[in-house]
Amino acid sequence: MTDQLIARRDSAVAAPASWWRDAVIYQIYPRSFADSNGDGIGDLPGIRSRLPYLKDLGIDAVWLSPFYASPQADAGYDVADYRTVDPVFGTLADAQGLIADAHDLGLRVIVDLVPNHSSDQHEWFRRALAEGPGSPLRERYHFRPGRGAAGELPPNDWPSIFGGPAWTRTTNPDGTPGEWYLHLFAPEQPDFNWDHPAVADEFRTILRFWLDLGVDGFRIDVAHGLVKAQGLPDLGVETEWHLLDVGVSPCFDRDGVHEIYRSWRRILDEYPGERIAVAEAWAPTLERVAAYVRPDELHQAFNFSYMGTAWDVAEQRRVIDASLDAMRAVGAPATWTLSNHDVVRHTNRLLQTGEGEVAGRRPTRVDPAAGLRRARAASLLLLALPGSAYLYQGEELGLPEVVDLPPEVRQDPAFHRATGQDGYRDGCRVPIPWHGDRPPYGFGPPGGPSWLPQPDSWSELSVAAQENVPGSTLSLYRAALAVRRAHPGLGAADDLRWVRTADKGVLAFDRHGFRCTTNMGTEPVRIARPGEVLLASGPIEADPDTVVLPPDTTVWWNA
Ligand code: GLC
Repeated sequence: MTDQLIARRDSAVAAPASWWRDAVIYQIYPRSFADSNGDGIGDLPGIRSRLPYLKDLGIDAVWLSPFYASPQADAGYDVADYRTVDPVFGTLADAQGLIADAHDLGLRVIVDLVPNHSSDQHEWFRRALAEGPGSPLRERYHFRPGRGAAGELPPNDWPSIFGGPAWTRTTNPDGTPGEWYLHLFAPEQPDFNWDHPAVADEFRTILRFWLDLGVDGFRIDVAHGLVKAQGLPDLGVETEWHLLDVGVSPCFDRDGVHEIYRSWRRILDEYPGERIAVAEAWAPTLERVAAYVRPDELHQAFNFSYMGTAWDVAEQRRVIDASLDAMRAVGAPATWTLSNHDVVRHTNRLLQTGEGEVAGRRPTRVDPAAGLRRARAASLLLLALPGSAYLYQGEELGLPEVVDLPPEVRQDPAFHRATGQDGYRDGCRVPIPWHGDRPPYGFGPPGGPSWLPQPDSWSELSVAAQENVPGSTLSLYRAALAVRRAHPGLGAADDLRWVRTADKGVLAFDRHGFRCTTNMGTEPVRIARPGEVLLASGPIEADPDTVVLPPDTTVWWNA
């Protein structure tokens, strides 16, 4: 079946549409993917050696989380030098080799750009501190005198997303207490002052540096955070800001960010081959998110509204419609994601209840079989939606969230700060099991370490254990990506039509010659066959006219 479909789609598509409009982009978290040198931390040569696996999986592009020179205070999202590779991950030559190998295999490479803040070990910041108050380099960050009689209070009332205040007091070169600096994240991540022309210039040259090296695009970290309200005004209310969930505020989603992205788009467009940028922009509404992907701005934005949507027919329909409507209005493709390195893996999350938990903050234990069943159904649904899909490494193996990491091995900086809000991101970052029956399961050399411990039960989830095994989660993803690539109805067209169903627990939609049906209810449902079954996320019972869908099951049909 798949072979026939491939022939149909290839011959139907003479000139390929913009590759990114329906691309499947696979997020690699370099620390946790493959460790070539046995230091317990994944690296670029490790990724390079696994590219054939990704090719076979059937993705279009990889997005690599940061691998730049960094003290790793926030796992590389604290960049000390934007143009070098951290020795823990390899060298610039390794990055070039990786890009070249990926291109040879027909895979594109997207790198992470972190423009909201640098590391406190960035040369500008180190010099700004060393030169003391009045240093022109301080103007590239947000340094302010403190409030209170002796400047002992932070300059405003903003909280850090990782807990505690968003300000840290410096010590002057003569040892006296000095000014404060702003960090919306950890103290090791000082925020840049984007009103300073040197900051804007620097990032334009960083973009060019990586574009010249051949990358196909950028994922823009905290894209909504760069511009702060003039005067850094108080919020006036006590609040907590969470990753992926901030309202309107003096430092997020300010209109001024859009001018920056227009200037970046002009740079991207100078390069051949459709280089793209995808925004990590948390904005209060999908319309505000769509503003980042207007025709002269970035290409895609992550759809966090969808990621936070409960497993419920009405909610799913509402958010899918709202996402498609918002993106259609600006001519951008919708994007769909269920997991990434900041949230509880969807094998757990979709079974968790409660607002904060559904939003992915605090992992709880769920029945692993039930979690996997629902995750597979959700992934198959996601891969049928019009637009671009983002997968997070390990979801194709059905990896669960690791919920029992002891505090002493946890490395998420937020875990160790203040109330530890949002500090639960280590459980989705545990290194990938490739083969073998004991840790590190081929992540690194036999008997070698891994920076986070892998569960004893992961040998059955390894790539080797699932490869070519009918019904395995890896086989399901491979088949789904092959059908998605081949089926004429699963291209970039924004053509979803809801199908009226007799059962309230069933979500069904048509695309050209294709139907996707998901049973989100708690009871099995019998439905008339709309056509030939292409793929099912779990076992189904079929007779010539009807099919019984168990709960938490998705079926793709040729219809
Ligand atoms: C983004 C990243 C997250 C990081 C934060 C600060 O949200 O996805 O991992 O901690 O930015 O850079």
